[in-house]
Amino acid sequence: MQQQRNILSANDLSKDDILAIFDRADHLRKRVDLPVIIPNTQIGGLLFFQPSTRTRIGLEVAFWKLGIKPVGVYQTKLERTMVKAESLSDTIRTLNAYVDYYCIRHPESRIFDQVLPYTDKPVINCGNGHDEHPLQALIDAYAIWTYLKRLDDIRVTIVGAPRYSRAAHSFLLLLAKFKNITIYEFAPDDLRMQEAYKNIFIANNNQYIHLAKPKWGKEQVVYSTGFAPKNPSGTFSQTIRNNYKITVKIAQKLGNNCIILNPLPRIDEIDYEVDALPVAYYFEQNALALYVRMAVFQHFYL
Ligand code: CP
Repeated sequence: MQQQRNILSANDLSKDDILAIFDRADHLRKRVDLPVIIPNTQIGGLLFFQPSTRTRIGLEVAFWKLGIKPVGVYQTKLERTMVKAESLSDTIRTLNAYVDYYCIRHPESRIFDQVLPYTDKPVINCGNGHDEHPLQALIDAYAIWTYLKRLDDIRVTIVGAPRYSRAAHSFLLLLAKFKNITIYEFAPDDLRMQEAYKNIFIANNNQYIHLAKPKWGKEQVVYSTGFAPKNPSGTFSQTIRNNYKITVKIAQKLGNNCIILNPLPRIDEIDYEVDALPVAYYFEQNALALYVRMAVFQHFYL
C-alpha cells in the first residue's frame, strides 16, 4: 500500500499522473476479458451519502476487476433510539480498522474537513456538493483523448449551468494542465463558471470566453452540463432551460469531427433524438469510465 495520496480535486493530479492514467486505461481497454489482474487483499470503502449510479457502480465493478473488495456505507448509523446520526468522524474512525481507502460522495462541499483529520488512508472525492468531481473529469478528458488523441490545442463549448456543476469545475481544472485550449461558455449570467476555477484555467495560457450567443461549429467538443430547474441561484423555467438544450438542429451544426460529452445523468439537456447522431459520444464516454477508474487505482494504490 502506498502512503496516503488523496484525490480531492483535479488540482491533485499532475499532468504526468493524468497521462500515465490514460496510458494504463488504453492498455486495459485492449484487454477484452479483463480478468482480476492483481490478486490482492485490499478493501475499498464506498461512502456515498448522495445517490449515484455511474460512480458507485462503476467503482464497484472496477474494484472487482482489480481484485479489490468493495464495502459500502450509504448513511451514518441512525436508529430510532439515537438522538441524532453517528458523526462522520466516528464512522471514519471505525472504518479505519477495515478499509484501505475511502471513495466519498457527499452533498457538502467542506465534507473532507470531517474526514481528513481522522484517517491516514487515501481519500478519493467522488463528488462533494457543488465543488468537484475529479474522477469524472479524468473520464471526460479521457473521452476527448481517445477521440482527438490530444488535450492541447482544442476548442470546447461548455453549455448549460457550469456554476453548480462539480464535474465541469474539475474538468476545467484538469484541462488547465494542458495548453492552448479555448473554452466557449454558453450559460445564463447567473450560472456562469465561478471565477476561482476559471482563473486557474486562464493562468495556464488558456482562454475562457463567455458567449451571449453560441457559435456552433467552431469547437471540437461540446460539454453539456446538467441544468437543474432549481439551484442555489434560483428557479429556472423550462423556457430558459430550453435555450441551453442540445437539439438535433444544433447537433447538425457541429463539425464532422466534433463530439458531445455529458457526465450524466441527463435531465433533459440533450434531446433523446440526438443520441442516434455520430456526434453523440456521452455513452461511449460512460463506457470508457471503467478503464479510467481501474487505471486510477492501479496508478496510485496497487
Ligand atoms: N456522473 C456521475 O457522477 O454520475 P452518478 O451521479 O450516477 O455517479
